[in-house]
Amino acid sequence: MNRPDAPLILLFGHSGQLGWELRRTLATLGDIVTAGVDGAERYLDLTDAHALDVLVHELRPTLMVNATAYTAVDKAESDETLAYQINAEAVGRMGKLGAEMDIPVLHFSTDYVFSGKSKHPWKENDPPDPQSVYGKSKLAGEQALLGSRADSLILRTAWVYGARGSNFLLTMLRLFAEKKQLGVVDDQFGAPTWSRLLAEATAQLLAQCKTPEGGFTFGVHHGQVFHLTAAGEASWHEFAQAILDMSKEECVLDAISTEQYPTPAARPAYSVLDTGSLHEAFGVRLPHWRQGLALCMEELFDRQ
Ligand SMILES: NC(=O)c1ccc[n+]([C@@H]2O[C@H](COP(=O)([O-])OP(=O)(O)OC[C@H]3O[C@@H](n4cnc5c(N)ncnc54)[C@H](OP(=O)(O)O)[C@@H]3O)[C@@H](O)[C@H]2O)c1
Repeated sequence: MNRPDAPLILLFGHSGQLGWELRRTLATLGDIVTAGVDGAERYLDLTDAHALDVLVHELRPTLMVNATAYTAVDKAESDETLAYQINAEAVGRMGKLGAEMDIPVLHFSTDYVFSGKSKHPWKENDPPDPQSVYGKSKLAGEQALLGSRADSLILRTAWVYGARGSNFLLTMLRLFAEKKQLGVVDDQFGAPTWSRLLAEATAQLLAQCKTPEGGFTFGVHHGQVFHLTAAGEASWHEFAQAILDMSKEECVLDAISTEQYPTPAARPAYSVLDTGSLHEAFGVRLPHWRQGLALCMEELFDRQ
């Protein structure tokens, strides 16, 4: 059903929180072909480098968009090899193919590349210092892509949630229904970001990267990293309270410390990203996290 004259966008990670939304928001920019393990149009396990090569050579897409990741942050601590295969090696491979075949690559990364030890929103060129295997593997992915010399752009985001998948919003809604009282961490800060708005902003950005010949290029922004999250900041406790307030559930939320909720992987304490550069470069920015949450909750609860 693909149109012969439309750009072909090869989307990796279509079944994830972000990829599911990108499949929709990028549809106006070209014909999308999904590649992945779970229900994709083209089966692809990213740990199979040869299969990735074969697929990209066969399809010769106009653009590759990578929304995959090994996102099980705690599990990654004991599953380093797989985390690196997906978050670093596969991304480097995409870059190599992109450079060889002149296919731009848009990739997503994370606030976990930073230590979280600052009290100011992180800027793109602040020194990375990941504290977990997940963060280290994602940083290695950034470096592999940027080192490939493909026409690439990286969007670092944070605290992603949505109406699907495994995320804080859905976990809280389940727990509110099960428990009368809940402790939620109050000393980690970030900007809760709805996957839908992230995907819409990505489409806005890519629309500006179209060439007159019908392709895509990141042009002067090639090889750059940008931060893209909702505006504002919250602790997990504050975010949970906002979810509770917008839901019909009743629960008492106690503010607890990171020490009281130990996890195998260290979380950055301060994860707020400065999104000013992206706004300056592309005029794109997301609304305050409370606005995004209200829209997402409307979608979850006001469906006919
Ligand atoms: N979630 C967050 O809070 C957050 C925060 C900061 C940055 N990010 C970044 O944002 C991007 C999207 O994250 P997300 O939350 O949408 O992730 P997600 O919901 O966990 O989805 C990950 C996607 O990767 C795919 N995938 C994993 N292993 C694969 C493999 N071996 N071969 C092919 N596909 C594979 C998954 O496919 P299956 O469904 O088949 O497993 C899924 O489609 C990632 O780059 C992530 O690092 C996320």
